[in-house]
Amino acid sequence: MYSIPKYDLQTAVELPPCQGPKLRRFRDFAGNIKFKKLLSNPVTEDSGAEKKRVDSSDISTGGHGYVFEIDIEGETFALKIFKFCSIRKLRQAYASAWSDEVNDEILIYHSDPFFAECRAYGRMNEVSSVQESGKRNDPTVISRRKSDRTGRELAAPCHGFLALSTAKYDKIFRESFGIKDWSRSEDDKKLSQDQRQPFRALVKTFLGSEKSMRRPRKMLDDLKDLRSLGIFQRDIFARNYVDGLLVDFSLAETDPYWIWDLIRDEGRLLEKRKNAELHLMLFTELGRQTAASR
Ligand SMILES: Nc1ncnc2c1ncn2[C@@H]1O[C@H](COP(=O)(O)OP(=O)(O)OP(=O)(O)O)[C@@H](O)[C@H]1O
Ligand SMILES: [Mg+2]
Repeated sequence: MYSIPKYDLQTAVELPPCQGPKLRRFRDFAGNIKFKKLLSNPVTEDSGAEKKRVDSSDISTGGHGYVFEIDIEGETFALKIFKFCSIRKLRQAYASAWSDEVNDEILIYHSDPFFAECRAYGRMNEVSSVQESGKRNDPTVISRRKSDRTGRELAAPCHGFLALSTAKYDKIFRESFGIKDWSRSEDDKKLSQDQRQPFRALVKTFLGSEKSMRRPRKMLDDLKDLRSLGIFQRDIFARNYVDGLLVDFSLAETDPYWIWDLIRDEGRLLEKRKNAELHLMLFTELGRQTAASR
């Protein structure tokens, strides 16, 4: 049996609770969130090959979550609310070849789509803070970057995470937007609304409604800069760009990342594993993804 790691979404100041980049909580605010519009479409408009992602999740059922245009204290944002993700599903998607090489905590904190985005944005924000505070030559800032743009300029900016009470918001999603599928565990479904896990959400700058890839040279520079920060987005599709900026990091791998640690120690890995073909597949997949993001 897999143990589910403990973290308190309601009180955590930053997430995930493990080594590496972390995203801070969104500011405290008075009043309610007003949900204005569902931006992500639960029924896919994409066709064929784009229906399944790298991690085999099906984008036609709302992908890794749902994104809304919202209002908080009179300010407009995009709010991405994540579906829940079981450790079994994560193991199937990411670690079927290496299930004995990674523990549950690290797999969840690195690869669960919510935490994957927290880590990618955590890195962008931490680099921006250092740059903005004038310490551009700080050795902790990755030095391979050629451009002078701050981390926050490389993607739709993220202002922090939020926990939303199920008792308060489930009804709104169900009744106003027809959203019922959050992939909750059977155990969670047995609990009363106010005992259930809160929704996990990220607050981002609302970029408008134009789903578009534009300024390809800048898009390429963004990807290169992200890579130099140790962020591999791994999901380069038109649906993940708005107005030429990346909005989706739910499949991102951000350094330090558990698979990379294994690959760094390739000799040990190959010695340990009997089925070399699986490694070949993985290296090919990583190579393909890396080439796609060049
Ligand atoms: N910051 C933003 N501003 C405006 N629109 C956004 C923003 N973030 C996301 N969107 C819209 O919501 C859609 C889904 O966002 P995102 O890709 O982050 O979620 P997802 O769950 O991975 O969805 P999908 O399965 O479509 O990839 C985007 O294609 C875009 O249309
Ligand atoms: Mg997406």
